[in-house]
Amino acid sequence: MIKLSLRLNTILDCLSPCESFADVGCDHGYVANAMLKSGKCKFAYITDISAECLKKAEELLSKSFAGKYEAIVTDGLKGVNVVEQVLIAGMGGEIICDILSSADSLPKRLVLQPMKNTEKVRETVLNLGYEILKDYTFKDEKFYDLIVCKRGKDRYTKDELAFGRDNLRDKNDAFKELISKKISVLQGALDKMSAEEKAKTKKAINKLLEVIK
Ligand SMILES: C[S@@+](CC[C@H](N)C(=O)[O-])C[C@H]1O[C@@H](n2cnc3c(N)ncnc32)[C@H](O)[C@@H]1O
Repeated sequence: MIKLSLRLNTILDCLSPCESFADVGCDHGYVANAMLKSGKCKFAYITDISAECLKKAEELLSKSFAGKYEAIVTDGLKGVNVVEQVLIAGMGGEIICDILSSADSLPKRLVLQPMKNTEKVRETVLNLGYEILKDYTFKDEKFYDLIVCKRGKDRYTKDELAFGRDNLRDKNDAFKELISKKISVLQGALDKMSAEEKAKTKKAINKLLEVIK
């Protein structure tokens, strides 16, 4: 039996029951496998830009779910039929934004777990016509951001774009720990800075302190 990491379980919990699901950049295919196994989706598209990565997922799903999935080697969502829900996890925010912006069609629901540049992902989904339902930081062996959205209208403040809406509202432990670490790094670097850099960095530190207050 495959034991999912805390990261993948957290992602899985955010996926809702659906008819059709696509795991873009699926690599091992663990999430699609779990979605089919639990009956949370009726049909899964597993896609990856790398044929070698996709083969791993195909080998896994072919054991139990023949006819319930389609494997496609493709860049992002190109050539993927309209699906209800799409997961894009474990990739940089820039790639996620490129995938969404160049998609032939966009799904009703998106679950995104960017590894960096989350601010750009937030801006992009809002511009593409999504309402953000969840947007928070969690911790497994590292800190991760998770964004869940559905078709709709939404607006973010500058701070929400930078830090994530739920992080600002709830200030969960993972978020507070991440920001505290960022503050320590900046504080540790102050000594080696010019007066100008120091003033800028102190301002940034104060902002971070205000955010987790
Ligand atoms: C670090 S793995 C993440 C795998 C899985 N989604 C997860 O979260 O555990 C990133 C995967 O994305 C794939 N990938 C990178 N760029 C892609 C793109 N433009 N379209 C589809 N897959 C892509 C890589 O080949 C790799 O398998």
